[in-house]
Amino acid sequence: MMLFDSHAHLDVEEFNDDREEMMKAAQEAGVSYVVNPGVDLETSLGAIEMAKKYPWVYAMVGYYPQETRFMTYELLEKIEELAKEPKVVAIGEIGLDYYWEDTPHDVQQKWFREQIRLAEKLDMPIAIHDREAHGDVVQILKEEKAFDRIRVLMHCYSGSAEMAKELLKLGCYFSISGVVTYKNNKKAQGVIDAIPLDHMCIETDSPYLTPVPFRGKRNDPSKVVYTARKIAEMKGISFEEVASATCDTAKRFYGIDQ
Ligand code: NI
Repeated sequence: MMLFDSHAHLDVEEFNDDREEMMKAAQEAGVSYVVNPGVDLETSLGAIEMAKKYPWVYAMVGYYPQETRFMTYELLEKIEELAKEPKVVAIGEIGLDYYWEDTPHDVQQKWFREQIRLAEKLDMPIAIHDREAHGDVVQILKEEKAFDRIRVLMHCYSGSAEMAKELLKLGCYFSISGVVTYKNNKKAQGVIDAIPLDHMCIETDSPYLTPVPFRGKRNDPSKVVYTARKIAEMKGISFEEVASATCDTAKRFYGIDQ
């Protein structure tokens, strides 16, 4: 059995005391692949370090919305250089976040577009962070012709089932996080029903968004098991089927062929 955690921040300080044990526990739980995203230059470098250290870890590089207020064209060039390193499989996480108010929307949008263009230039897939910005995210992806040119993954998908159906027609991929296990998540069943396994990935977003029954504690890749189990229950299929199909989908999305 193989599980693919499509999005986990392994390089963060929350894991500094027990990273080795945490990684071992993840492997023992059946996690065979993890993609570590970047949110700025430092974490993009951290993601690459993790990918160098662990054969089963891959990296993404990029600036996520709240960090774009510090972005410059010089830093964009650095991200471009890092994107060419071995085992960097996508540009991410990039997108828009209208929940936090520290970075103006126009600044976020400018650097979201620039990073989409970079991914198109390098012919790399993108992982999208979209928090309370669904309309603008989709509009910018369409204006930049992202769906026609590269593969697009909505990380920790939080939109409606209707939006998922619209995006599926464009070839979009979705990653489901531990939020699917939360009791107050009323949209979840419709979203899980709407997305076929060949366009669905699963993720922990470690160390955040810990699934039930560990909600409130630190998250780590071994806990992707609980998200896969919940999806299996909601789709009325086996855990093994969810694990292997989402692993295949993530490998196809990120272009990993081993
Ligand atoms: Ni993340």
